[in-house]
Formats: sequence, C-alpha cells, structure tokens
Amino acid sequence: MKVSVIGSGYVGLVTGMGFVKLGNEVIFVDVDERKIKMINNAQPPIYEEGLEELMREFKGKYRATKDYRNAILNSEVTFIAVGTPSREDGSIDLTYVEQASREIGKVLREKKDYHVVVVKSTVLPGTTENVVKPIIEEESGKKAFKDFGLAMNPEFLREGVALNDFLNPDRIVIGVRDERTKKVLEELYKPIDAPKLFTDIKTAEMIKYASNAFLATKISFANEIGNICKKLGIDSWKVFEGVGLDHRISPHFFRTGIGWGGSCFPKDVKALIRKAEEIGEDPIILKAVVEVNEKQPLKLIELLKKHVPELRDKRIGVLGLAFKPNTDDVRETRAYIIVKKLLEEGAKVLAYDPKAMENFRRFYPDVGEQIEYASSGKEVLGRSDAVLIVTEWPEFEELDYSGKIVIDGRRVRKAEETAEIYEGVCW
Ligand SMILES: NC(=O)c1ccc[n+]([C@@H]2O[C@H](COP(=O)([O-])OP(=O)(O)OC[C@H]3O[C@@H](n4cnc5c(N)ncnc54)[C@H](O)[C@@H]3O)[C@@H](O)[C@H]2O)c1
Repeated sequence: MKVSVIGSGYVGLVTGMGFVKLGNEVIFVDVDERKIKMINNAQPPIYEEGLEELMREFKGKYRATKDYRNAILNSEVTFIAVGTPSREDGSIDLTYVEQASREIGKVLREKKDYHVVVVKSTVLPGTTENVVKPIIEEESGKKAFKDFGLAMNPEFLREGVALNDFLNPDRIVIGVRDERTKKVLEELYKPIDAPKLFTDIKTAEMIKYASNAFLATKISFANEIGNICKKLGIDSWKVFEGVGLDHRISPHFFRTGIGWGGSCFPKDVKALIRKAEEIGEDPIILKAVVEVNEKQPLKLIELLKKHVPELRDKRIGVLGLAFKPNTDDVRETRAYIIVKKLLEEGAKVLAYDPKAMENFRRFYPDVGEQIEYASSGKEVLGRSDAVLIVTEWPEFEELDYSGKIVIDGRRVRKAEETAEIYEGVCW
C-alpha cells in the first residue's frame, strides 16, 4: 500500500519504517526541515536500535516532505503521529493534531479517491470523533465513514526497542466504525502475527490510556513497597520476583527504582487525571501514582547524603541522562530532577550518557548548561566524590566501581559487586 505518516518523531518514523519493512511505500510529512533532510538522506533523526540499517536498506521506498498535498494525493492511508504534549495544567494539548487534521482536510477536498485517515497519536477518548472528524469534514466538505475513512489505532511501542515492538506487538488495537476502513487496516496489518482487537473508536483511545496508567501504577506501587522494603532491610527485587510468579500478576515491568519518565507515562496519566476531573470523577489512585513517582528520584539524594552529608562543592557523578537505556530521549527523565536537586545543594555535577548528553543540554538549559559532561563512564568514576546511577545503560555493567561510593537507582549488578560503599534505592 501507499502510506503517508504525519509527524516523523519516535512513533511516526518507527511506524512508517515498519510499514516499509512490511512491503509498503511510505511518505513522511513533518514541519521540521532538519528531520526531512535527514530522513531523505537515510539518516534517522532519533536514536533507535536497527533504524539506521533499515533506512539504508530500504532507501527509495520512502521519502519525507513538508508538502501535505503531495503526500496525501500519493497515498491511500494517512496516519497522524504528531505529538500530543501536556499543557501547563496537565491537560492534553491538541494543537498539532488539529493542525494536521486541517491540512489533511484541505487536500481531501480535491482528492477523488477514497482515503483513510488513522489517528495514531495518543488522544483522549472522544478526540477522533469530536475533534479530528469535524475539522476534516469542514475542510474537505466530505463526510467521514462515507466519503473518507477514519480510524483510531493507538501505538504501544517502547522506545529503545521500538522497531521490534512495532513488528512484533503483543496486540494491535483498531477503533473503527465502517467496514471499508476496517478492511484497509486489516490488509495493512495482515503480515503482523498478533491478536487484533477491533473496537469502537473511543474504546481504542481509552485502551491506550488505561494501559499506560496501569503500567505507571505497577511501577509506583512497586516503588512504594520497595521503599518499605529498604527500611526493613529487604531486597524488593526478590520480593517482586516472588510476587510476579503469580500468573494473575506477571513479572514483567515490575521493578523498583527511581520511577518512570519519558514522553508518554507522565503526560498520559496527567491528561487522564484532568479528563476525569473535568467529568466529575476523582481519580484517587492515579493522583497517588503521580505523587509517588515525583518523590522517588529524590530518594537517591537522601541516600547519597547518608554517605556524603554535605554536598556543597563535592563533585557528584551522574551515570545516565536518558529516561531509559537505549534511547536518546530525555523527556521527563528522572535525571533532570536529580541533577537540579544536586545543583541546588551546591554540588558540582559531572554527567555521562552514551546517547543523550546533547539532548539533555538542549532540552534543559537551566541545568544542562551548568553541568560538566564526561566522555565516558570511566571518566565519571575517576573524577567524582560519589556516583549516582540514573539510567541502566548496558555499558555501565562493564565499569569498575572499586573504591567508589555508588548510589544506584536502577540496579547495576557490577556496581553492587565492586563499589566500596553501595546503596540501592529499594534494595
Ligand atoms: N514516544 C513513544 O514511545 C510513544 C509511544 C506510543 C505512543 N506515542 C504517542 O505518539 C504521538 C507522537 O509521539 P512521539 O514521541 O513520536 O512525538 P515526537 O515529538 O517525537 O514527534 C512528533 C513529530 O510531529 C511533528 N509535527 C508537529 N506538528 C506537525 C504538523 N502539524 N505536521 C507535521 N508534523 C508535525 C514534529 O516536528 C515531530 O517530528 C504522541 O501522541 C505520543 O503520546 C508515543
């Protein structure tokens, strides 16, 4: 099929390249000239394992442009994969989704053939039918489910293993209303061997929020129990290994540490809270899930002070700035909260991350400009009075921590085995 993807970020680019791998042709649309140029040169603007190789292998089967008209007239299906960030009050900002819908609608006005529009961005229940649909209908003068297809297909990929997740998902959820759109999406996803759940549109939207809210809850719950374990001298990882053996619970994604960050959980849980409040519900659990998560990274500083009571003018090493390993994404990274606190306490910060240092400096200039960056984890260990492990990059397992004070937020076994003084946040 000929597919166009609006928004070439983590989801758009990975999804689009996934469709290319499955034998389709893809046109990416973005407003960012830098990304367009890079994609057309087969260079991924983000770091994601396997992406660069795939882009090189399939050069010629995809291209990127700023031109909606060109992309939509030359494709049969368009995925909207633009960002849906949080506003100041936590509510969802639909500006980019609205812009994309408007541009798509304008082109559909002149397009003769049937075209399917699929919302892949994470949007609150009701958005596809109450925001996207009326904008496209108004701009195109056409009727959804009759003159053009409309569907909602949430994405569940995890950054760091995104391509693999897209091609081998646990499930594919498709919210549709009309048979014709359903057929197009069935055909497109046919090569992927995974359970396919067809629902109505707002159910598909809610499945994404409920999934993310549950996963965030699982981690905050583990951390709350983990903090109790720490005080009682119990290894919470063993506890959750034992708990996870119950098949009703599952051991996956059940680890203690310094909490969740990234571009999805924080904004999605907050957006769901705002939505609940707006309709007169008090989401007690979700609010607590966020509160636990906001406090958790500071546990690392508390533990550090046990061993280095006065941080002023001490050089504290920070290993890891990305919100998780194998990505350069720093959105809502726990590292920001930790580095900020260290600077407030007067410490000097020496940080290292294999992929995310440039993004950290650019994204968080308030702290990113005030810290020193090292060229390796080894340099951090060599030059710091104490070291905090914030992201569990595999290469941190290769370092020699002997003679060091290490406070670990992620459980790097090598640090646990070799450090002179070692504290795990929940173990
Ligand atoms: N990142 C993830 O792991 C992940 C996983 C599942 C779902 N999602 C959801 O997918 C959506 C996209 O997330 P992301 O992380 O890929 O975001 P991103 O910020 O990495 O990418 C969004 C892209 O859209 C482009 N864009 C913005 N406005 C545009 C417009 N009007 N026309 C064309 N392009 C435009 C931006 O330039 C950017 O390249 C969000 O709703 C997010 O919640 C993300």
